[in-house]
Amino acid sequence: MQNSELTEEIGRLRKERNAVILAHNYQRAEVQSIADYTGDSLELARRATQVDADVIVFCGVYFMAETAAILNPGKTVLIPDPSAGCPMADMINAEQLRAFKAKHPGAKAVCYVNSTAEVKAECDMCVTSGNAERVMATFPPEQEIIFVPDQHLGGHIAGLLGRRYELWPGFCPTHAMLTAAKIEAARAEHPGAIVLVHPECAKDVRDAADHALSTGGMCKFARESDAKDFILGTEVGILHRLRTENPGKTFYPVTDRLVCPNMKKTTLDNLAECLREMKNRVVVREDVASRARRAIEAMLAIS
Ligand code: 13P
Ligand code: SF4
Repeated sequence: MQNSELTEEIGRLRKERNAVILAHNYQRAEVQSIADYTGDSLELARRATQVDADVIVFCGVYFMAETAAILNPGKTVLIPDPSAGCPMADMINAEQLRAFKAKHPGAKAVCYVNSTAEVKAECDMCVTSGNAERVMATFPPEQEIIFVPDQHLGGHIAGLLGRRYELWPGFCPTHAMLTAAKIEAARAEHPGAIVLVHPECAKDVRDAADHALSTGGMCKFARESDAKDFILGTEVGILHRLRTENPGKTFYPVTDRLVCPNMKKTTLDNLAECLREMKNRVVVREDVASRARRAIEAMLAIS
């Protein structure tokens, strides 16, 4: 089917099913364009609590759709391709986390939202890259903290707040492609441009950049800045939104190879198919969901 036919079918099915389409900032341009809302993990988690549709179609990776399902037990949450996972989220499971916690009795366990529902269920608090600094600042300095799974986001926030966390050695394989040398090469090619990277990047990459921000933070920064040129050290899908929202500004990727293959699994084809057949429902067992919900709602209450 042509994109125009698929767009038309998705528009019709969205009405018939009373569905809302949420898309992450890394989704393909055509998926972002058809979505009702595009945003970062925090914005989408919040949005998922505010929609009055019966069906939420989540165009992102699995943990994001799971978060929407946990926050909306009465709604149907669909994901166009259920194999769209996040390798970082799969770097720790509940059993490994329980063993990690056993080594640090008395510590609070904090998970990055890029984690499975089972891992969230074991945690006291959840954070996203958009609210991590604010949420982590609410813990007293003497409180021991276990932070999973992203060593880089955890290390970044610990550095900002002058604290020390017990970090799980997880990382994002897509952001691991970035090096400080690549940032310097991009700066040499575009002198004067402001460099924005994601806090999932390693410390030397963050240090080589001007700012480390969530994808939503990057959109806000670009919108409010007087600068005209920006270099982006994150997944290339964000360029579509930045360029659409800021026609007078120029956005360069550090490298156009920074692609998250899982984020690209959603297409207009499988989006139309999942709405047509109401398939790929995301279901989280209620005993897991109720415990995970506590950690997510504790986060939403603060941010
Ligand atoms: P954001 O919450 O900043 O959009 O990040 C999500 C993510 O998976 C980054 O790799
Ligand atoms: Fe996971 Fe990295 Fe893809 Fe984000 S970019 S969804 S952290 S693999």
